[in-house]
Amino acid sequence: MKIAVAKGDGIGPEIMDAVLSIFNANKVPLEYEFVDMGKWVFDKGFSNGMTPEAQQTIESLGILFKGPMETPKGKGVKSVNVTARKTWNTYANKRVFQTLHGVDTVFSKAGIPIDLTIVRENIEDTYGGIEHMLTHDVALSRRFITRPGSLQVIKYAFEMASKKGAKRITCGHKANIMKITDGLFLEVFYEVAKQYPDLKADDVIVDDLCMKLVSRPHEFDVVVLTNLQGDIVSDLCAGLVGGLGFAPSANIGDHICIFEAVHGTAPDIAGKNIANPTALLLSGISMLRHLGYMENASVIENALLYTLESGVHTGDFGDKGTPSVNTTEFANAIIANLGKTPAHGAKALLPNKPITPTVFHLTENPLIMTKEEMEEKIVGVDMFIESAEQPSIVAEKCLKHTGDLFKLVTISNRGTQVWPKGSVFTNLVNQYRCRFESVEEMALTQTDVLELYKRLMQDFKICSTELLNMWGDKKAYSLAQGQ
Ligand code: NAI
Repeated sequence: MKIAVAKGDGIGPEIMDAVLSIFNANKVPLEYEFVDMGKWVFDKGFSNGMTPEAQQTIESLGILFKGPMETPKGKGVKSVNVTARKTWNTYANKRVFQTLHGVDTVFSKAGIPIDLTIVRENIEDTYGGIEHMLTHDVALSRRFITRPGSLQVIKYAFEMASKKGAKRITCGHKANIMKITDGLFLEVFYEVAKQYPDLKADDVIVDDLCMKLVSRPHEFDVVVLTNLQGDIVSDLCAGLVGGLGFAPSANIGDHICIFEAVHGTAPDIAGKNIANPTALLLSGISMLRHLGYMENASVIENALLYTLESGVHTGDFGDKGTPSVNTTEFANAIIANLGKTPAHGAKALLPNKPITPTVFHLTENPLIMTKEEMEEKIVGVDMFIESAEQPSIVAEKCLKHTGDLFKLVTISNRGTQVWPKGSVFTNLVNQYRCRFESVEEMALTQTDVLELYKRLMQDFKICSTELLNMWGDKKAYSLAQGQ
């Protein structure tokens, strides 16, 4: 089986060479095609950080094993890591955090074992990077949470949890505040949960989740979250098991999967051959299991666990009283321990059953859509306008333009209602949301909205608009704070 390998930037080549030397010593039956991706590819003028040949190779092989890659700062380019995950729709980011004997943490010293899997949605949320300055003072980011996108990651999380024999799966969210976006994610979670009656499915608000993770991490098993919250919570979990040097990650999609460490290029230690290759090795082990190389994965993992138990360590962890080894020496110690069984957490040697690689010849972009039978109508519009005037003046001007079809319902500033009721203590910025609803919830057309837009233009610069939809008798928009 052939896979694509990108060594990456900074410590990437050092840790990738270390990991591949362990794979080679264990005669892992994989062939590697090295592809050009990373900062140096940006610097050559490829704006997405990869050459067209690299893209073609990865799309035809379906598996990318990658080192960390640097995002050039201040050049307006997007992270190649995020671009890769999004372009190839690797919708689930799985990160396993386990107690490793030989890696001292507060919890290992207290005898509390940790075995946690975080599944983070990998495509949507604020990671769309769709951001605008609405006025010189006001920046806006769009946060997309979609039903089909949530379904993909949540179905994956349940299936993975069920296969691994998990007892509990938890949805982390902030649906108490983001009722529509996180509310949708949570709704989909409980829809999918119905198909897995043997798994205890529950949910925790993300701030409470963080508190519980640092005080009682052993109570959690699999946790699924939206993208940004998942990003933050998974770094928190890395801290629980000893830091970024021990945090592997798998980006799972239907066609392409990417295996990489959670950490970055560690520019402060790059080129010194002192980086810890464990996180990338654990990612590689997870890739071997994904490809069905169960025996190789277990032999290598056992050798790693044995090495850690025996106290061999790179400079970033372990007993400061014993000298650390460098990256190559650490890899060589693991190679010398291939075939040995650790005292704690030894993996059973299951036979290799390589999967048959599927070659996908897609001719069109897959459209992921859930069917919506409900009647839909436009019942209003939010007009985001620029103004440095007081709310009563803004209201007075808006009221001149409502015409026969619209009524002005509320005006808010940074989401807090300031008209018809509000508090003079609410600080204002120079951008308001003026909500116009149709008289008696009558259905409106886009032309009606456009006519209102044109009338409002006489008094304001309109920065942005958002239609207010009703699906059946359900409002598809949130209320302003205080409305
Ligand atoms: P970082 O993870 O590279 O480094 C944070 C700290 O952890 C540093 O002190 C570093 O020395 C240490 N560290 C990280 N990995 C280590 C290892 N294997 N062994 C020993 N120490 C290790 O995070 P930072 O500095 O925020 O990012 C540096 C660059 O990496 C940026 O350009 C960023 O965009 C990129 N990055 C790439 C990622 C990827 O390729 N998936 C993920 C995160 C960041």
